[in-house]
Amino acid sequence: MRLKDILEIYHKELDERFGVHEVDSFFNLVIERYLNLKRIHLVLKPEYSVTKTEEQPLFEALSLLKLENPIQYILGETEFYGLPFNVNKYTLIPRPETEELVDWILTEHLKCEDKLQLKILDIGTGTGCIAISLAHNLPKAKILALDVSEEALHVAKQNAVLNRVDIEFIHNNILDYRYVDSISKSHKFDVIVSNPPYVRDLEKAEIQPNVLDNEPHLALFVTDDNPLQFYEAICEFAQLHLKDKGILYFEINEYLGPEMIQLLETFDFKNIELKKDIFGKDRMIKGIKRLID
Ligand SMILES: C[S@@+](CC[C@H](N)C(=O)[O-])C[C@H]1O[C@@H](n2cnc3c(N)ncnc32)[C@H](O)[C@@H]1O
Repeated sequence: MRLKDILEIYHKELDERFGVHEVDSFFNLVIERYLNLKRIHLVLKPEYSVTKTEEQPLFEALSLLKLENPIQYILGETEFYGLPFNVNKYTLIPRPETEELVDWILTEHLKCEDKLQLKILDIGTGTGCIAISLAHNLPKAKILALDVSEEALHVAKQNAVLNRVDIEFIHNNILDYRYVDSISKSHKFDVIVSNPPYVRDLEKAEIQPNVLDNEPHLALFVTDDNPLQFYEAICEFAQLHLKDKGILYFEINEYLGPEMIQLLETFDFKNIELKKDIFGKDRMIKGIKRLID
């Protein structure tokens, strides 16, 4: 069948749900992944045909898209901060707002990379997107990454190999951080970063069905009565494991900026900065560990 006829079927089946531009972009990703063809191919060779074997994955992907499976899970891959990442149903699909968090950290630390070997810990690493993009850009840094999900860690380890970076992965539960044996008390970090689960049950109604039905709830949700549970545990952990003047960075729930400032103040963090994402939503926060004199 001609590739352009398959594209037409994609539009017929998906446009109503996703819109023309998104369907074009799905198709480009699918032909690149399964046929190793760039979209320009369709323009340059409008009569280009594919064999039955070649068209099979394109139609399989179409069926999954109709069921609202995220394109990243269908392809098993995505891009984050310009780097390739494997994803599967056990890992959250990395989001653009998290790229902004990485960018913030890099902007503040690239300049001192030469002078000292930064020690960085990423808590709730998922695909490893934060830890790996930091490691890629800060090649001298010593980076550790922790997650409670063994399945997610398996993907994160593959991603570290894929991106040729060296990261120490830790399987543990940050809510039981006292038992994070692999991080001894003497292990102190310059930076601790986390994008922990932060969506409240009450916000489920705002979540797209394709996220709700496909992405791991372990990575997303917290209870309405204790929405800052992870942040509290991580602040406590950071009290022990951040160096003096070490910095704690969080991605946060856009509705809980003031509560997050209060939480960091309670834990005596200084120079607290709340930062908006490109959509003007409170999305990131940082605090510096107070000096003990
Ligand atoms: C919002 S996702 C963030 C994933 C990735 N860092 C990112 O930014 O795309 C939260 C991650 O925290 C992990 N997680 C959930 N509960 C945890 C716990 N108790 N201890 C450690 N990690 C946990 C989940 O498995 C998930 O990978």
